[in-house]
Amino acid sequence: MKHIRKVVIPVAGWGTRSLPATKNIPKEMLPIYNKPVIQYVVEEAQRADISDVIFVTNRDKNVIEDHFDHNLQLEDVLQRAGKLDKLREVQEVAEMVNILSVRQKRQLGLGHAVMCARKLVGDEPFAVMVGDDLMFSGVPGIGQLIEVAMAEKMPVIGVMEVPWDKVSRYGIIDGEEVAPGVYRVRDMVEKPKREDAPSRLAIVGRYILTPDIFDYLEKVTPGHGGEIQLTDALQAMAKERGMMAVRMAGMRFDAGDWAEFLSANIYFALQDESLRYELLGLLKNFVQFK
Ligand code: G1P
Repeated sequence: MKHIRKVVIPVAGWGTRSLPATKNIPKEMLPIYNKPVIQYVVEEAQRADISDVIFVTNRDKNVIEDHFDHNLQLEDVLQRAGKLDKLREVQEVAEMVNILSVRQKRQLGLGHAVMCARKLVGDEPFAVMVGDDLMFSGVPGIGQLIEVAMAEKMPVIGVMEVPWDKVSRYGIIDGEEVAPGVYRVRDMVEKPKREDAPSRLAIVGRYILTPDIFDYLEKVTPGHGGEIQLTDALQAMAKERGMMAVRMAGMRFDAGDWAEFLSANIYFALQDESLRYELLGLLKNFVQFK
């Protein structure tokens, strides 16, 4: 399998879970401590040596692309004010990756969003990262999948164990564990009822795919929620050509879930020594620590 250069990041969703905060601001631009959610996702890709980010976007999301571009006026202001640390930070974000984008003109589901990127992906294996899922680990989350994809020469999806009462929020796989944390995928189902779920191994929005996924996507009919589901195309692909799943190491936050979003904010703020003690002091005013 060739080196993974490209990642497709669908960002055309409405962010209804995060309303009213997302009424006029893309959910991907909500901050986790001092960076927007999407920057963490792009940094994960960059750490895995992915150089080209394909945003599948809509008319209201230009600000996401702008975030990864230069803002010369701002840079000039920072330069003249001598705020060189800040200047370096904003320049680094602009230089992080190459940005390509394609419009998803109607929101017909995650599978449809990936399909929109077909021409930009071309004929090479590529990554897909769901922008709501934030992963933090030593080896970047998507890099963990790339390692297995390279070794096995197969598409690979990232999974994590979730509690049984949450399986209906995810794509769930049925797999045979062939090495610790590595599964050969037998089947998968999108957002099953608890009693129908084959396991509690949930797909967590990280995928390494081969370009033949587009042929499977073309054949998919609307599935769960009436949407073109990536999971349905993956299921057909797993059965015919084979697919692996990797139980991902590290921490995951679902940025569309308020409790997880807020705990991610606190987690990252606490990593910053210059904020840590002041923040803990303030938290103690309204949280009873045992
Ligand atoms: C999508 C996928 C689902 C996966 C989830 C991970 O669902 O369809 O299989 O488990 O991302 O976040 P969504 O959250 O977009 O409804």
